[in-house]
Amino acid sequence: MELRKGIILGIESSCDDTSASVIKDGRILSNLIARQDIHEQYGGVVPELASRAHQQNIIPVVEKALKEAGVTKEELTGIAFTAGPGLMGALLVGVSFAKSFALSLDIPLVQVNHMKGHILAHFIQKPNEEKKMPTFPFICLTVSGGHTQLVKVTDYLEMEIMGETLDDAAGEAFDKMAKVLGFPYPGGPLIDKYAKEGDSTRFPFTHPRTQNYDYSFSGLKTQFINFIRMCERDDPNFVEKNKADICASIQDTIIRTLFSKLKKLADDLNINQVAIAGGVSANSHLRNELTKLGKKKRWDTFIPEFQYCTDNAGMIAMTGYFKYLKQDFVGQEVTANARMKF
Ligand code: KG4
Ligand code: ZN
Repeated sequence: MELRKGIILGIESSCDDTSASVIKDGRILSNLIARQDIHEQYGGVVPELASRAHQQNIIPVVEKALKEAGVTKEELTGIAFTAGPGLMGALLVGVSFAKSFALSLDIPLVQVNHMKGHILAHFIQKPNEEKKMPTFPFICLTVSGGHTQLVKVTDYLEMEIMGETLDDAAGEAFDKMAKVLGFPYPGGPLIDKYAKEGDSTRFPFTHPRTQNYDYSFSGLKTQFINFIRMCERDDPNFVEKNKADICASIQDTIIRTLFSKLKKLADDLNINQVAIAGGVSANSHLRNELTKLGKKKRWDTFIPEFQYCTDNAGMIAMTGYFKYLKQDFVGQEVTANARMKF
């Protein structure tokens, strides 16, 4: 990609991470993330608490991101923010901040769709880094706490959803099953951790069946909950005794399900560039299995760096930068859109 000029501040506040990042001429200079641990004890994100924490975190996070980048606010040429999808109260904090900051600096505002941001995280590079990036067209399996999408990407800003979940997202499935096992929120990373020691063939679960390239995880969740309850009736310590095997088995089922549609789409479209993105792409089994599958299918596979898998402003600044180059700006009348279309 030809590098062009622009210093973009990216702001992300769609869920429970407050994040700010600076991208200069297409290269990332900083990516600061303030995580909100408060939700752990409630078993999920409490929207009201998330909004309050964003309000407290946003200015310190932006200040740190500018400082680490060695950029003054007067040097910024654009501000990109997540407009949606996400939690309304959480989004509004980032949107309001971005609008007032852009107004005071008299620089353009760029709105970013969070899900497109996850995909374009693949184009984030540090100064002087020459990373291998997907070429167009490529397929991206975006798996997060709120979404599961199979996307055909034909250019930086041209992409189409080919399939998605009809009910729960893959991350949501991980988190809800983890909750049944007694893990704190978000449980996905803990399932990943315990699964490392487990046997994935020990407890077979039925793979969800869906049409086309769509997914469904709610049936699997119910099957899992019923199975755990039944086993606990016979042995109250069942989960504790079999934690690793339970985690490995359910994780493998989710990942095989994700891959079945991914393979079908790549075959049908005859595309051999395949990427993963979103919080669940931090899962070690998913990463390893994609690499293995890629070798077998002769795909070029792309796996984001850990810091760009879960929510981060680097991906928002990157997407904002592409839109900034096209002068795709929005005015001060813009607002958050919790159900923003792709
Ligand atoms: O993209 P993300 O940070 O936020 C949303 O946009 O939703 O994704 C968060 C999701 C959570 O469901 C979390 O449990 C899951 O990503 N996650 C993982 C792992 N790390 C994060 N799931 C499985 N294994 C992991 N290692
Ligand atoms: Zn996300």
